[in-house]
Amino acid sequence: MKFIPSATRFLVLFALIAGSFSVQLHAQQGNSDPKMSQSEMEGKKLFIQRCSICHLPRLNDPTVPDAFGPSLNGKFNGTADEARVREVIMKGTPRMPGFQYSFQTSQVDQIIAFMKTLK
Ligand code: HEC
Repeated sequence: MKFIPSATRFLVLFALIAGSFSVQLHAQQGNSDPKMSQSEMEGKKLFIQRCSICHLPRLNDPTVPDAFGPSLNGKFNGTADEARVREVIMKGTPRMPGFQYSFQTSQVDQIIAFMKTLK
């Protein structure tokens, strides 16, 4: 056979395009990590929205400036004091705003649950 009939070609093309769209949609929903609990997922959303601008993990790219705040990866690997972390989030520090008027206690719980997944 010299060339594939055009209807088949069209179908293959369509399947490829539809496939790539569904991959993109999945990535955008970002909600489908089966290893994460509901509250870790909620904490991740809040962290990305409110904390990651200053606490993004360091990128391996010398053209990108360091994050404004320290990386919080691995914070709970050792003996991180959860009460102190909670206090920092609520009251802030000289260079970090406090979130006591923005978050409910349950939301801070979710953020801390997510921070524990940052190895
Ligand atoms: C405006 C930038 C900024 C934002 C937004 C921000 N932080 Fe910070 N954060 C900092 C800086 C800077 C420090 C380091 C302390 C200092 O220099 O005052 C810090 C310190 C911390 C620490 C203490 C780290 C340690 O090793 O003791 C924790 C925990 C923390 N931030 C959590 C959060 C969480 C959770 C959020 C989102 C709810 C958040 N931060 C949002 C800038 C920020």
